[in-house]
Amino acid sequence: MLAFYELIKLVSPFLLKIIIDTLTSSGIAELKLLLWLVAGMLAAEEFQSVVGWVTNRLIIKVILEIEYYLPVSAQKKMMFLSLGYHERENTGNKITKVQRGVEHITNLIENMFWEILPTCLQLIITVITLFYIDWRFSVAFFLFFPIFFYLTYRVNFKLKSRRQEMHQKWEEASGKMAQSILNINAVQSFVQEERETKEYQGIRDVILTNESYVWNKVMNFVMTRDFIINSGRLTTLMMGIWLVYNGLTTIGTLVFVFTISEKAFFSMFRLSRFYDRIEHSLEPVERFISLAKEEPEIKNPARGLKPKNIKGEVEFQNVAFAYHGGQRKALNGVSFHIPAGSRAAFVGPSGGGKTTIARLIYRHFDPFSGRVLLDGCSLRDYDLYHFRRAIAIVPQEVEIFSARVRDNIAYASPGASLSEIKKAAQIANADEFINNLKDGYDTEVGERGIRLSGGQRQRVGIARAILAKPKILIFDEATSNLDSYSEKLIQEAMERVSQRRTVIIIAHRLSTIRHADQIFVLEGGKIIEQGSHEELSNVRGGLYAKLLKLQNTGDVD
Ligand SMILES: Nc1ncnc2c1ncn2[C@@H]1O[C@H](COP(=O)(O)OP(=O)(O)O)[C@@H](O)[C@H]1O
Ligand SMILES: [Mg+2]
Repeated sequence: MLAFYELIKLVSPFLLKIIIDTLTSSGIAELKLLLWLVAGMLAAEEFQSVVGWVTNRLIIKVILEIEYYLPVSAQKKMMFLSLGYHERENTGNKITKVQRGVEHITNLIENMFWEILPTCLQLIITVITLFYIDWRFSVAFFLFFPIFFYLTYRVNFKLKSRRQEMHQKWEEASGKMAQSILNINAVQSFVQEERETKEYQGIRDVILTNESYVWNKVMNFVMTRDFIINSGRLTTLMMGIWLVYNGLTTIGTLVFVFTISEKAFFSMFRLSRFYDRIEHSLEPVERFISLAKEEPEIKNPARGLKPKNIKGEVEFQNVAFAYHGGQRKALNGVSFHIPAGSRAAFVGPSGGGKTTIARLIYRHFDPFSGRVLLDGCSLRDYDLYHFRRAIAIVPQEVEIFSARVRDNIAYASPGASLSEIKKAAQIANADEFINNLKDGYDTEVGERGIRLSGGQRQRVGIARAILAKPKILIFDEATSNLDSYSEKLIQEAMERVSQRRTVIIIAHRLSTIRHADQIFVLEGGKIIEQGSHEELSNVRGGLYAKLLKLQNTGDVD
C-alpha cells in the first residue's frame, strides 16, 4: 500500500517532464495534448491523496491499538510480578520506565509508518527510476550514499554510552521525586526541603550535561551532512547540464531527474535524522522490554491444586529463608504446626522474623530450604490465586486506597452490600468512628488514607479482612497503633472472628495473645520457646516470662 502510494507520487513530476519536452520540441501546436497532460497531473495528485487517506486510516488504527495495548500489558505485568521484584525497584523508576517506554515505542512506530517506511520506499523507488531513466545520474547518488550512512552510524555509535547514562538518570530522577513527595511529611518536619531539591537538581544536572553533549554532537554533524547532500545535488545537476549540453539527454529529463534526485537526497537526509532518533529511543525501549521479560519469581504451577474447601491447617517444616538471596537468614530452621481452627500467636523482639512468617504463609516468597504446608500439601502445589483467597491479613501498615471508606472495606469483596460492609465494620469496632466521619461510609479517605488516624486505618484493615471471609486470618501487630481502649475493642473483635477459622496473631503486646492455643516466641529467626500462656509464663529465665514482667510493670514495649 505504502509502496503504491510512493510510486504514484512520481506520476506528477513525470507528466511535468513530458510537458516540458513537448514544449521544447514542438511548441504551441500540441496545446490540446498539453491540456490533457495538465489534467492528468491534477488527477494523479488527487488519486495520490485518496490513496494517502486510505493508508493513513490503516496506520492510525494500528498505532492506536499499540498505544492501548502497551500500557495495559505493562500494568498487568506489574500486578503479577512478585513482591520481591517490587521491593527491589523503586516506585518512581518503575512508573518512568513504563511511561517513557510506551512513549518512545509509540513514537518509533509512528515514525516507522509515517516517515521511515515511506522515506525508504521513496528512496528505493526514486533510485530505481533514476537508474532506469538514465543510469549516469544514479552514479552521483551511489557515490555519496555510503559515506553518508557510515558517518551517521559513527556519530550515533559514539553517543551510545551517554544516552544510556541519560536514561538511567531519568529513571533515578523520577524515583527521587516520588520519594520526596511520598515522604513530604518527614521532609517538611525536619526542614529538608532544600536538600531534597538539591539532590534532585544534582541528578538533573547530569542529565543536562549529557543531553547538551549529545545534541551538540548531533547538531554539529548536521553541518557535515548538509555539505555532503549539497555536493551530491550539485554533482547531479552538473552532470545533467553536461549531458544536455552535449545533446545526450532532453531538458525535460533533466528537470525530472533533478526533481526526483532532490527528493532522494532529501530522503537520505531524513533517514539519517530518523536514525538519530531511533538511537535516541532505543535505550528507553530496551528498558521497557526488560520489564516485559521480567519473570515473577514465584511461579504459579500449571495445574495447581484448587480444593473447594481449605481447612486452614498450617505447618512449617524446618524452614530457612533469607531476603533477596542474601546471607543473613530472616528465618532459620523454623518448624511449627497450627491445627485448623486453632489460635496461634507469634511474639518476640522486632526483627525476629514474625512478619516474614506471614509472608511465607502467603507464598510471597518461597523458603530457601524446608517446606510450608497448607492442609498437609506443599504451598508450591497450590494454585497461587486460589489459596491466597482463603487467607486474609491485617498487615502492620494497612494499605488504604484513595477512595471511600466503604470501598476500602470491600476491597477484597467488591460485590459486598452496604449492610455486609457495616457488619464487618461493627465486628472490627470501626462502625462508630465511620459514622462520625463527614459523609459516613461514603467519606473519601484521601491518598493512602491520609485523612484517617493510624488506629482508624488499622480498623478499616480489620474490617476488610473480616469481610473477605478467610479460613486463615492473620493479624500482624494489628493493635500496635491503638490506645488501650481501642485495643480492648479489637481484642473483642478478634475473639468474635476466631470461630471456625485459623487465627494467627503476631503481637507486640502480650495481653492480646493470652488466650491463644499456642504461643511461639521468635528471636533472631528461630523459635526459642513455645507453649500456652500459662506454661510460658512459668519458665524461669524464659524470654516470654521476661517480656511479660516488663509489660506488667507498665513498660509496654
Ligand atoms: N523486604 C525485606 N528485604 C530485606 N530484608 C528484610 C525485609 N523485610 C524484613 N527484612 C529483614 O528480615 C528480618 C526479619 O524481619 P521481620 O520478619 O519483618 O521481623 P518482625 O516482623 O519480627 O519485626 C529483619 O532482620 C529485617 O531486617
Ligand atoms: Mg513485623
